[in-house]
Amino acid sequence: MVSVAEFPTLRRYIMARTGDTELSILLMAMTLACKATARACNKAGIADLFGLAGHVNASGDDQKKLDVLANDMFIDALVNSGTCAVLVSEENEEPLFVPKEKAGRFIVAFDPLDGSSNIDCNISTGTIFAIYDRKTSADGPATMEDVLRTGHDIKVAGYCMYGAATELVITFQSHGVHRFTLDPSLGEFVHTTAHVKFPEDGGKTIYSCNEGHSKDWDPAMQAIVRKWKQGAKPYSARYVGSMVSDVHRTILYGGVYLYPADKKKPNGKLRIMYEGFPMAMIVEAAGGAASCGIFGGKIQRILDIMPARIHETCPVIMGCKRDVDAVIEEYRLQG
Ligand code: AHG
Ligand code: MN
Ligand code: MN
Ligand code: MN
Repeated sequence: MVSVAEFPTLRRYIMARTGDTELSILLMAMTLACKATARACNKAGIADLFGLAGHVNASGDDQKKLDVLANDMFIDALVNSGTCAVLVSEENEEPLFVPKEKAGRFIVAFDPLDGSSNIDCNISTGTIFAIYDRKTSADGPATMEDVLRTGHDIKVAGYCMYGAATELVITFQSHGVHRFTLDPSLGEFVHTTAHVKFPEDGGKTIYSCNEGHSKDWDPAMQAIVRKWKQGAKPYSARYVGSMVSDVHRTILYGGVYLYPADKKKPNGKLRIMYEGFPMAMIVEAAGGAASCGIFGGKIQRILDIMPARIHETCPVIMGCKRDVDAVIEEYRLQG
């Protein structure tokens, strides 16, 4: 319980752990946009922000008004923070190279509003982000070499969940996973849980997926879900349809989140750079595992992927080791 005389804010936490002022400025810009997005979601019904914007993004998703508004707010906050060299967003077809006069040393890949199909019925949504340090020399302009990298290069991975409370979960390098909850009266994210870990032994037996697509999954995925349902103690099914909310519950309660490949989407649905990588990094840092199953002919860990395009997708199996290992074992059995 945080005392009324203590202010363990995100800014204070980052400065104490890293001493990196530029990173702290970037995260303050990121959290400003998170707060503005939380406010927009909150007011959506009143401010006529439900419904479609009328455009389709690079992944083929119909953009909602709030996808576009959240994206504009993140871009404004990040560009004007003076800390970013390149931004990659779900809602922008191409990477945005920040003009020299506002450029800094970070690359940010983000999903401004995750689970946006849930907005109109007031179910939780989120924002997901991955922050990289520039790889190329600061003397010249940033290039695609700074953008297309494996997940291991991520400096800070995070998500913000717009639920009953607005909550930011981040991990950076060896510092573990931390929860910060927005105190609306202070307008600050306050450190509420340190070193978040999956429950011992994997926790609750829950599988979370869009099972409506199961007839098109590969046999290993069909088999493991069947086993979970038909065991002596059958697993429970939970699926919000917002990756942020489903993975957040999975980390805190246990179990596994699945968005596998299917016949219509042989590379899965979720985008590697701003959904797969950051969520995989957080899940692994909390003691879980994140895999694609068999992908490209081999068992593929998500963080090892080297994306060739910014909106590339991969199958996602992430959660406690007990359940992710069971999926991988099933892939091995089925060959
Ligand atoms: P986004 O709203 O950012 O496009 O992401 C949607 C993703 C993810 O949040 C969710 O887990 C998944 O799509 C839901 O897909 P289905 O509707 O196919 O289950
Ligand atoms: Mn979308
Ligand atoms: Mn998403
Ligand atoms: Mn989105």
